[in-house]
Amino acid sequence: MKKFHLGWFMNFTPDEWREPFGQGGQPWDGQFYIEMARTLERACFDYIMIEDKLMVSETYGGSRAAGLAGGVMAPKHDPAPLAVAMGMATAHLGVVATMSTLAYPPFLMARLASTIDSLTRGRFGWNIVTSAEDLAAQNFGLDKLPARELRYEMAEEYMEVMGKLFDSWDEDAVVIDREAGIYADHTKIRPIFHEGKFYKVRGPLNTVRSPQGRPVYVQAGASPRGRDFAARHAASIVSIASGAADMKAFRDDLRARAAKAGRDPDAIKVLFCVTPTLGETTQDACERHERALNAPHFIDDMLAQISAITDIDFSKFDLNAPLPGRLTTNGEQGSLDKFQQFGSGKTLRQLVVDGAGGVVSSVELIGTPAEIAARMGEVMEEVGGDGFLITTPVLRVSRRYLVEVADGLVPELQRRGLTRSTYTTQTLRDHLMEF
Ligand SMILES: Cc1cc2nc3c(=O)[nH]c(=O)nc-3n(C[C@H](O)[C@H](O)[C@H](O)COP(=O)(O)O)c2cc1C
Repeated sequence: MKKFHLGWFMNFTPDEWREPFGQGGQPWDGQFYIEMARTLERACFDYIMIEDKLMVSETYGGSRAAGLAGGVMAPKHDPAPLAVAMGMATAHLGVVATMSTLAYPPFLMARLASTIDSLTRGRFGWNIVTSAEDLAAQNFGLDKLPARELRYEMAEEYMEVMGKLFDSWDEDAVVIDREAGIYADHTKIRPIFHEGKFYKVRGPLNTVRSPQGRPVYVQAGASPRGRDFAARHAASIVSIASGAADMKAFRDDLRARAAKAGRDPDAIKVLFCVTPTLGETTQDACERHERALNAPHFIDDMLAQISAITDIDFSKFDLNAPLPGRLTTNGEQGSLDKFQQFGSGKTLRQLVVDGAGGVVSSVELIGTPAEIAARMGEVMEEVGGDGFLITTPVLRVSRRYLVEVADGLVPELQRRGLTRSTYTTQTLRDHLMEF
């Protein structure tokens, strides 16, 4: 079987500060996460991906209290400088930062992405999001979030502008001809004069063309509109599914959409979120899983998180009864659908504890490193390929967990020939295209 890819999904929030093996929740100088990046590089991950939101949520319980008390989703620092710090402390690992089309004017986004791609020598990826919360929109001069259709329509034009800006410098524009006294050849650097429905940008970029030309586009669209957007633009698509059959259906659908848009489906790597629970024995892993689900703050943290990303206050619902009906949101509908399992008859409490926290795991992985490695291989065989995005239920990590994955699980995957044992390429795009 072809090898598959590994990514890690985290955010620039406190570490697993409540747990006995947490570092204490003070990662703000970046050192904790720089060490994390080095650990993942040791395990030959393709990339580390930094989640982001642009607000302090007040959805859960109608207040900032629960989210801030748990350190779930806030405080949260800016992913772009952290991506630079992680990229400069490593040599091969791809670094992917989430940045919103709602927040950055296209010129600033293109200039920032180009600069980070140069600083990381071609290992930068951009997780393209349109933002999904009214509270975020209110930090950018709007009263409420534009409707999903409009957000994607704007994002399509945004991507057109980005492409033009990245191509406003030819590959050979920098000549550094000392004798002729020419650093850059102006005939190879052109304004773009973009004038569309939403954006007006003159160009050219004022940064040199970066090693990858443009960052690796990462996307997580889940709605039909979102999937079309992802299939048209992304080199890697990240998703949360419910089981191997669902994973296969999602990947097949995206590949079909990509082919329809004239792209080679093999140029897109679909990575599925999983939250492995590792133990010395199967029983040990099962006990750890149970303990995590029954931790006093687990339900509150999970509900604060899902409330923040869906703009729905889950404190309103009875924990011991099914949800009142199918919920919809202008926010992350895909994440909401995965969570609510409409029609399953499960109580809200069951939805939270289902799987490894329900919200973020595409398939249940509980066991010894060898057992989980074998299971990941089976699942990929069934799905058809590409890879996994490892994470935790509320995204935060401890050093101990990182080491369990990097030095326990990954060597078992490598022994089976399932994942990379060494890097043979330099850029993130080439890592993704290697197999
Ligand atoms: C694995 C994963 C990571 C995501 N990361 C972010 C993020 O960091 N910031 C954000 O605003 N949205 C994030 N999203 C939400 C997606 O960008 C998207 O809005 C969501 O999947 C719903 O899809 P839709 O917009 O097509 O309805 C993420 C979604 C998934 C599945």
